[in-house]
Amino acid sequence: MTTISDKELLDKAKQVRKLAHAPYSDYRVGAAILDTDGNVHIGCNVENASYPEGNCAETSAIAAMVAAGGRRIATIAVVGEPVASGNCTPCGGCRQRIHEFSDADTRIILLQADGGVAEYSDAELLPASFSLL
Ligand code: THU
Repeated sequence: MTTISDKELLDKAKQVRKLAHAPYSDYRVGAAILDTDGNVHIGCNVENASYPEGNCAETSAIAAMVAAGGRRIATIAVVGEPVASGNCTPCGGCRQRIHEFSDADTRIILLQADGGVAEYSDAELLPASFSLL
């Protein structure tokens, strides 16, 4: 099984962020998932002229994971520029999408403006969550 450090996973998110298609918001986000089998899946935001049709980076990375046969997220790294509210954290919809593939020990890690790393659990980002499985 591949082992990859948080820094390496954040670096992969940082790299794929450069490939984002974000001509409308000009706000690029990269995400990299380490799944529970040790495989890494990456995604960036992909916007569309019909604005609601765009995908977030986390959504793209989750789709890549599922298409590659991965099913559970060990760690997801998200990298975007800081925003008014602070770090670039997953939006509400992405929190639900992450939750679908999360376990109690799934970690969400974010690069902070000062270069530090913020870490959350799925339950911290989405308390009282909705699940059918
Ligand atoms: N976005 C992401 O890709 N992930 C996030 O966690 C927050 C927002 C994207 C959506 C849109 O393309 C752009 O950032 C501005 O909202």
